[in-house]
Amino acid sequence: MENFRNDITRIKCNPKNFNRIGYGNIKDLILFYSKTSHPIWNEPREKYSAKDIEKLFPKTDRQGRRYTTVPIHAPGETERGKSNRPFRGMMPPKGRHWRTDVETLEQWDRDGLIEWSATGNPRKVVFADEREGKRVQDIWEYKDPQYPMYPTEKNNKLLDLIIRTSSNPGSIVLDCFCGSGTTLKSAQQLNRNWIGIDLSEHAIRATTKKLENTEESFFVSAPEYEFLQLAAVNCDK
Ligand SMILES: C[S@@+](CC[C@H](N)C(=O)[O-])C[C@H]1O[C@@H](n2cnc3c(N)ncnc32)[C@H](O)[C@@H]1O
Repeated sequence: MENFRNDITRIKCNPKNFNRIGYGNIKDLILFYSKTSHPIWNEPREKYSAKDIEKLFPKTDRQGRRYTTVPIHAPGETERGKSNRPFRGMMPPKGRHWRTDVETLEQWDRDGLIEWSATGNPRKVVFADEREGKRVQDIWEYKDPQYPMYPTEKNNKLLDLIIRTSSNPGSIVLDCFCGSGTTLKSAQQLNRNWIGIDLSEHAIRATTKKLENTEESFFVSAPEYEFLQLAAVNCDK
């Protein structure tokens, strides 16, 4: 249980007409476990939608850039140090300290990155186009292909996200139920090594076909792999 990190709800398809009594099923549950307490974690970011930008960055500057403002002080008083000195003759409010040292605040102000309210309250300007996007949450919408080449083929963007976040180039990705090889293709395109296993010959053929169609580029080389087949034989008798 200590290795469990998240259960992720994945919207896998559009609503369908079910004849049975009950709610329609449009989701999968992805269970995220890590082997150690320090797994590889490349923080993924999701682009802001136009609606997010409108809500989170409600102001527009003269150049038309969307922005918001945030306080330049944070809770907690510091006795000494660079974050409790006067900035433009002003001390941080009681019980708070400046979020950074006064030299940086002055530089921000010279760069036009401090917005002063009519009552003389300074706030830091944060531009939408300088943010990397929002944190990825635990409800994902990655619908599977409508016309799959393999009956249970998964959305490749879903696998790209998982592989990019939880492995590095050169890592080994294992899919022990690889089906048509969607995970292996994602791993190949993201410069990971991979191992795929499936008991179905049809799956192995589909995987080979998918890997042969991996686009080569400056960053992605053609897959090099070999087939290994291991048979467990019962030698009694
Ligand atoms: C849900 S599919 C995987 C689909 C895959 N993610 C894709 O995108 O194409 C599950 C696969 O597991 C394989 N499988 C089932 N039991 C297995 C076993 N005991 N050992 C190896 N493969 C198995 C099936 O042949 C099937 O291809």
